[in-house]
Amino acid sequence: MKKGILVVSFGTSHLDTLEKTIAVIEKEIADRFPDAGVYRAFTSGMIIRKLKRTEQIHIDTVTEALQRMSEDGIDEVIVQPTHIINGIENDRMMEDLMEYMSLFRRIRVGKPLLSSVDDYKKSIHAVMAETELSEGEMLVLMGHGTDHHANSAYPTLEYTFHALGYNQVLVGTVESFPELKNVMAKLKIAGKKKVALMPFMLVAGDHAKNDMAGEEDSWKSELEEEGYEVRVIMKGLGEFSGIRKIFLEHIEEAM
Ligand code: CO
Repeated sequence: MKKGILVVSFGTSHLDTLEKTIAVIEKEIADRFPDAGVYRAFTSGMIIRKLKRTEQIHIDTVTEALQRMSEDGIDEVIVQPTHIINGIENDRMMEDLMEYMSLFRRIRVGKPLLSSVDDYKKSIHAVMAETELSEGEMLVLMGHGTDHHANSAYPTLEYTFHALGYNQVLVGTVESFPELKNVMAKLKIAGKKKVALMPFMLVAGDHAKNDMAGEEDSWKSELEEEGYEVRVIMKGLGEFSGIRKIFLEHIEEAM
């Protein structure tokens, strides 16, 4: 049987972070599974269109990639999302897979980053192993957040940081709960004045550069207005070797 691995990402139009995160994950997957062809798909149509328009780069949607794999004679497919939570993007990916299942002998699907309790613990250790904080510095992580019920992953993540002894870490989201104001209330209680800001997203793209670290209307500017000394860590989760390892493990589990 001819095997293929489809790596499904939300995507980013920022090529710098794309190369440092998604491309590295795909390369490590190709190195680990040399007998399988590795394919790329993005779930964001908006980003696919933007890359085509501004960079003349074509990226497949999930269904386009599946058709391409089928044309290449692949009959055994493993799909690994690089999504953080089991949210809307993952649901949409699953719907697309269902529709094209009949093209293959077998399709197996790996889980997003934060799926089991162990995944949370491993992700936290992976981040903390490669993040240096100075004395008295708090780490505020910006997750994406969603209307989907899977948004509960974010409060769970913060809870788990604290359960593992990392009380200096707080988690907020750009688009849902907890919000920056919830994070700020906890910062006040902690009584610390130094904050390191980092995205808890696969890439350090639009949200990280603008909503998190922008000069206006950003988490950085709002924290600075409140008198915090803010340091930005412009690093997507895909740049952490320990995070990439979890995705590799999820492929192995799916196999
Ligand atoms: Co967004």
